[in-house]
Amino acid sequence: MRHLFTRKPLQLLLEEMEGEHRLHRVLGPVTLTSLGIGAIIGTGIFVLTGIAAHDKAGPALMISFLVSGLACVFAALCYAEFASMVPVAGSAYTYAYATLGEFMAWIIGWDLVLEYAVTSATVAHGWSHYFQNFLSVFGFHVPPLLARAPFDFDPGTGSFIATGAVADVPAIVITLLITVVLVKGIRESAGFNTAMVAVKLLVVLFVIGAGILFIDPANWEPFAPYGWSGLSFFGRTVAGRTGPGGEPLGMLAGAAIIFFAYIGFDSVSTHSEEAKNPRRDVPIGIIASLILCTILYVAVTAVLTGMVPYDRLNIDAPVSDAFRQAGLTWAQLLVAAGAITGMTSVLLVMMLSQPRVFLAMARDGLLPGSFFGAVHPRFRTPWKSTILTGAFVALLAAFLPLRVLAELVNIGTLLAFVIVCAAVLVVRRTHPEFQRPFRAPLVPFTPIMGMALCLMLMFSLPAENWLRLFVWLAVGMVIYFAYGRRHSVMARLRGDKSKR
Ligand code: ALA
Repeated sequence: MRHLFTRKPLQLLLEEMEGEHRLHRVLGPVTLTSLGIGAIIGTGIFVLTGIAAHDKAGPALMISFLVSGLACVFAALCYAEFASMVPVAGSAYTYAYATLGEFMAWIIGWDLVLEYAVTSATVAHGWSHYFQNFLSVFGFHVPPLLARAPFDFDPGTGSFIATGAVADVPAIVITLLITVVLVKGIRESAGFNTAMVAVKLLVVLFVIGAGILFIDPANWEPFAPYGWSGLSFFGRTVAGRTGPGGEPLGMLAGAAIIFFAYIGFDSVSTHSEEAKNPRRDVPIGIIASLILCTILYVAVTAVLTGMVPYDRLNIDAPVSDAFRQAGLTWAQLLVAAGAITGMTSVLLVMMLSQPRVFLAMARDGLLPGSFFGAVHPRFRTPWKSTILTGAFVALLAAFLPLRVLAELVNIGTLLAFVIVCAAVLVVRRTHPEFQRPFRAPLVPFTPIMGMALCLMLMFSLPAENWLRLFVWLAVGMVIYFAYGRRHSVMARLRGDKSKR
């Protein structure tokens, strides 16, 4: 039992960074911020805004973005403290290992699979929606059998329905293409990413600048048609209205869904090992990208709900469709192309991050090193796990619906944020001597607010997500006890007899 709480000494982590099998240090603050924005702006703003405004919050979704953004700012400050203290690959997984012990580290690492791999599958779906929207302007259509996942959730009845399709083939294709790019290497990927981020930002600014001309303030009435709250405690409504499937509705329920739009800022920290000056640049990358995105999101939502009445927003490709409804086909095309580019960059960063978390876990012996730790001799990338990640993402994207994937990602990521915030509190007490080049301000207020807001958002998600989260964590525990605990490098170092 004692072994479960073994911590990996910070000194050891830092020494490991000096070793041979290092990734290249090529990323500066601008590239890191751009990787952050690359991971952040995507399916959340381009797709989920439609679903969330239509089904959960109405125009009050603007406020939902502020609430969710605030939760992320608190969590980001805690992430940044850790990222500056433990600037090695692995993100929250490594922070937890250095501070909370091996078992919590494993739980977080497993949870991060939800964040990175399952997010990628969600984004691949969003990509597919906009790709099909783009093609439709030219009269091309992907055959319906190959256009979406075989089932979806119908909020009208609160149950799952068959879509008549077999799989989302465009989502599979883009996932496999990105996998090839990532196996080739981070330098190429980072340059490619910076260009895509520029295009995506320009298109978002275009949506705001052009869309503003088409706003009809009457569309903002009623502002909060589903109310201002939306909280349930394991299926029992605590505040606000309830949908036909028993799910919470209202501004907070909207915030819990579009939380997805912020996911990714923390992926900057998974690149610490490839950063030139991780202690300074990683916190800058995280916080700068987060603040910029919050401002853009609120503006885009204001424009979108001002252009189209919330109950007439398209739920597949709402942003480009708003321009179609305004009669601007060229703008629809432009926005669809921008969204496709934007989501490609999200996929790139997310699928880049996942193998790096695996790599960190493999170095610690919690995953088989020969596979997850293998760095390609020429490309210097964790190529085997990149390919495995690609295959897993393609499979999920092919068969599971976007909403279900997005909600699962949200609850898993919110849990990771809660743990990171808690860890800041714990480590300030247990290891006041650690060097913290970046210190989260106003501790304990900041981590406590981070935990409270993230927990609130977890309870604003439909209740079945808790069950899915528990199942996911249970599978993770089985793997840990069957493999990780027996092969843990720390356990060997400590000569822990109980593992034998
Ligand atoms: N935040 C990312 C997106 O919205 C995951 O696509």
